[in-house]
Amino acid sequence: MLHDRDRIFTNLYGLQDSGLEGAKKRGSWDGTKFLIEQGRDWIINEVKASGLRGRGGAGFPTGLKWSFMPKVSDGRPSYLVVNADESEPGTAKDREIMRNDPQTLIEGCLIASFAMNANACYIYIRGEYIRERERLQAAVDEAYAANLIGPNNIHGWPFDLYVHHGAGAYICGEETALIESMEGKKGMPRLKPPFPANMGLYGAPTTVNNVESIAVVPTILRRGGAWFAGIGKPNNTGTKLFTISGHVERPCNVEVEMGIDFRELVERHCGGIRGGWDNLLAVIPGGSSVPLLPAHQCQELSMDFDTLRNLKSGLGTAAVIVMDKSTDVIQAIARLAHFYKHESCGQCTPCREGTGWMWRVLTRMVRGEAMKKEIDLLLEVSLQIEGHTICALGDAAAWPVQGLIRHFRPEIEKRIDDFTARNRGDTVMPVA
Ligand code: NAI
Ligand code: SF4
Repeated sequence: MLHDRDRIFTNLYGLQDSGLEGAKKRGSWDGTKFLIEQGRDWIINEVKASGLRGRGGAGFPTGLKWSFMPKVSDGRPSYLVVNADESEPGTAKDREIMRNDPQTLIEGCLIASFAMNANACYIYIRGEYIRERERLQAAVDEAYAANLIGPNNIHGWPFDLYVHHGAGAYICGEETALIESMEGKKGMPRLKPPFPANMGLYGAPTTVNNVESIAVVPTILRRGGAWFAGIGKPNNTGTKLFTISGHVERPCNVEVEMGIDFRELVERHCGGIRGGWDNLLAVIPGGSSVPLLPAHQCQELSMDFDTLRNLKSGLGTAAVIVMDKSTDVIQAIARLAHFYKHESCGQCTPCREGTGWMWRVLTRMVRGEAMKKEIDLLLEVSLQIEGHTICALGDAAAWPVQGLIRHFRPEIEKRIDDFTARNRGDTVMPVA
């Protein structure tokens, strides 16, 4: 269980003053100059020692990513871009940071930019986050007015921070599409490599980090990488924001220790499953891009990157979507398939054609209007999409479908049998 003293986001629910004075009382901007004076290597080493893994979904080690940035400039500037395009279905954690604790993010931007030799940072915020954008801009303005950031700020590192808003495309959360969008082009992912650290924004070395990844950095540095590494589990360290939605008594955002048991997460923070644990059908543990897990795999489930990957799912954005037995799970995955079809940028044939194909087949399967051999065909198509596209959206579209077939094939078959029987005029047994 996470002690209150180990919580980083102490104003997650906006119960206190989210302005600069309130943030300072909670510890933000305390000794920032001293942290910067410790130097780049110290900062990067502390972040490495903390074991922090990227909070945007992929879980890539943050300190390692920072170390890819050039130590000496070749004449090009370096940039930090904060990915606040939080669009993964079920995910609403970065939103709360920007609403209620924006100074944690702004301070993190300054420190991380210094560590990567960047004098400018851009926060790319989701188009639909209008109030959050206004709050964030107000917080940035406050930080400028107090000379905490800016060309001649009190911390001795010239630094400008810009809030850039997206226009509502999911794909612009993919880091290279985000960069394209910032450059004024269509938000279409680029092939990697080159990674942004070599060729990013305006062709310059760039690190793209998630909001939460950057916002935790000042506290990690103040308390030490070892403190953060001591929370959670080996290789899965620190505190973590979870967004729990769906069929729980009290959906919420909450900061807990990485690796918390699913049961504890839901019992302690969400008041349990609606209708009790026997009513649990399935869980998507990390935002819509990861495969769901059936109820029997969730009872003593450690919510961390490695455990969930071993179960062929993922922690992703830690957006936990709970489905009880009232859920039509085929319909739920068909709905997600429609989402990915709609959001595909259309560059790669497997994704452009495959997402629409999967959605159409799943739509028929919802009604049972399909042949059983199409289940294997659907699986095969999803495998042809996975790993054969420019960006991870193709995988993200394929994995939920694979999860459905892996865990709920009998339900699809029964739906088909029922439809066939109905059309023969047989009596259909109601689903229990
Ligand atoms: P990725 O694994 O390709 O990359 C992760 C990060 O590590 C990137 O910044 C990449 O540049 C860097 N990286 C990886 N290998 C590298 C290398 N060899 N050299 C230098 N840098 C390297 O994953 P990606 O595509 O960035 O993210 C996929 C995840 O995003 C999914 O798992 C999903 O959970 C999540 N996601 C999150 C959303 C949100 O709203 N937060 C929306 C959609 C997806
Ligand atoms: Fe675009 Fe899909 Fe290809 Fe990604 S995988 S680049 S979203 S077509």
